[in-house]
Amino acid sequence: MISIKSEKDIDGIRESCKIVRDTLRFVEKRIHAGMTTGEVDRLAYEYITGCGAIPSCLGYEGYPASTCVSVNEVVVHGIPSERVLKEGDVVSVDLCVLKNGWQGDGARTFLIGTPSEADKRLVDVTRQCFFEAIDGLKAGSPLYDIGYRVQTYAESNGFGVVRSFTGHGIGREMHEDPSVPNFGKKGTGMRLKAGMVLCIEPMITAGDWRVVTLPDGWTSVTRDGSKAAHYENTVVIREDGVEILTV
Ligand code: MF3
Ligand code: CO
Repeated sequence: MISIKSEKDIDGIRESCKIVRDTLRFVEKRIHAGMTTGEVDRLAYEYITGCGAIPSCLGYEGYPASTCVSVNEVVVHGIPSERVLKEGDVVSVDLCVLKNGWQGDGARTFLIGTPSEADKRLVDVTRQCFFEAIDGLKAGSPLYDIGYRVQTYAESNGFGVVRSFTGHGIGREMHEDPSVPNFGKKGTGMRLKAGMVLCIEPMITAGDWRVVTLPDGWTSVTRDGSKAAHYENTVVIREDGVEILTV
């Protein structure tokens, strides 16, 4: 069941999403070589709780931290640890915020120190995949056009599209229907309706798109060891376009 949110519901989600956005900015300003991924997580935890909100990844299906901090070949769900960030690392930070019963979700990929041209291109293309996906998207658009646009843009730039994780609806719950894949066939899928709230989140690899999960049950890495990037926003479908809540 895909719920249609009222303007009052959307106001609630917007408030949580502002905290997501501000937390990601707070982390972006402070993340540096020499810091551990656990310290990145602590920064986010302090910021979110300081806003009177809950970092809703913490304890979600047993997840042990407030954020996912995914370095280099880690695609998503990297568990914050004592791992020290170094120059040249590609670091995705993904977090969810719960306030007044409403969820917000967003992710960014940060480059530590002076990036290589290849890593910069990976991050830029991943971000652009999101904007390609929402260009012209509105009520009545076919759901799988989102994935079609992400896939077309990523693959035409020589990158891979992760298949085993998708975007999702969001609201009272972090993950609601529908699933929003980053690949698909143009013109297919249900027609989007105004008031649907979706997380659109391209996960893009520099090499092969296949991923494997490490024995910890969370950490997802590229099978070929190539680097990956992630960019996610929560958006509302409107009659005439989309409203991005996490920028
Ligand atoms: N923010 C992630 C998503 O987009 C959720 C991470 S899984 C968790 O679905 F366990 F960390 F919460
Ligand atoms: Co998400």
